[in-house]
Amino acid sequence: MKIINVENLWKVYNKRKEALKGITFHVDHGEVFSLLGPNGAGKTTTVKILSCMIKPSQGKVEVLGFNVPQECNKIREKIGVVPQEFQGFSDLTAEENLRYFVKLYNGDESQVEELMKTVDLLEYRKTRYRNLSGGYKRRLAIACSLAGDPKLLFMDEPTVGLDPRSRRDLWDLITEVKRRGVTVLLTTHYLDEAQRLSDRVGVIFDGKLVRLSSPRELMEEFRKQTLEEAYLALMELLGDTS
Ligand SMILES: Nc1ncnc2c1ncn2[C@@H]1O[C@H](COP(=O)(O)OP(=O)(O)O)[C@@H](O)[C@H]1O
Ligand SMILES: [Mg+2]
Repeated sequence: MKIINVENLWKVYNKRKEALKGITFHVDHGEVFSLLGPNGAGKTTTVKILSCMIKPSQGKVEVLGFNVPQECNKIREKIGVVPQEFQGFSDLTAEENLRYFVKLYNGDESQVEELMKTVDLLEYRKTRYRNLSGGYKRRLAIACSLAGDPKLLFMDEPTVGLDPRSRRDLWDLITEVKRRGVTVLLTTHYLDEAQRLSDRVGVIFDGKLVRLSSPRELMEEFRKQTLEEAYLALMELLGDTS
């Protein structure tokens, strides 16, 4: 079943900046799907449209069977979002921040405990947000995104700025979320991460989708052993100079 269906999606900012130039793809139920591509390619724009934060300019966008933007009210209650820049309430503790989100979704106290356990945050539950390390801020962001038991989770560069250990923990967490049947759409610059986690990847370049395949297929296309090498070969082919 298609959890996300995108056909010929365009996004034009301020009537002149074409950030997306007609992209088409879908995401199946239970997949981890990763959007890859250089800075400015259009990854965040795509995530923002799919998670109902901004409107598409043109094209068909369906999420969980509902139309974007017309039925965004129904979509919002069923999805979780870890934005590129999550900001918690700095004077509230980790636990208080999480409780705020759980209450938004009418969850009860047991869910606060449960989620803190899931992301391994119990030790820092009484720490104010501003005093949490980057890794624990990210764990909290993920816990908050899981409030309300989303069927679909969007994560925009979830591991940026994390130390290697925290990144590994987050990989485990994403795997666990997937095991529970949640569909995950993520963006990342870390190709090792994308290779390990993704069922399929979509490569965006200059607002266009230039590849849509499994990591393995992309590696085979360029006869490389890793997704990173295959990706770099693709960028070279496209003349990316960044
Ligand atoms: N609010 C905005 N107004 C104008 N241009 C924007 C806006 N947001 C993003 N852009 C531009 O759209 C393009 C795609 O941006 P983005 O989706 O953030 O890329 P990515 O996440 O792949 O780095 C970039 O050229 C960016 O500068
Ligand atoms: Mg981005």
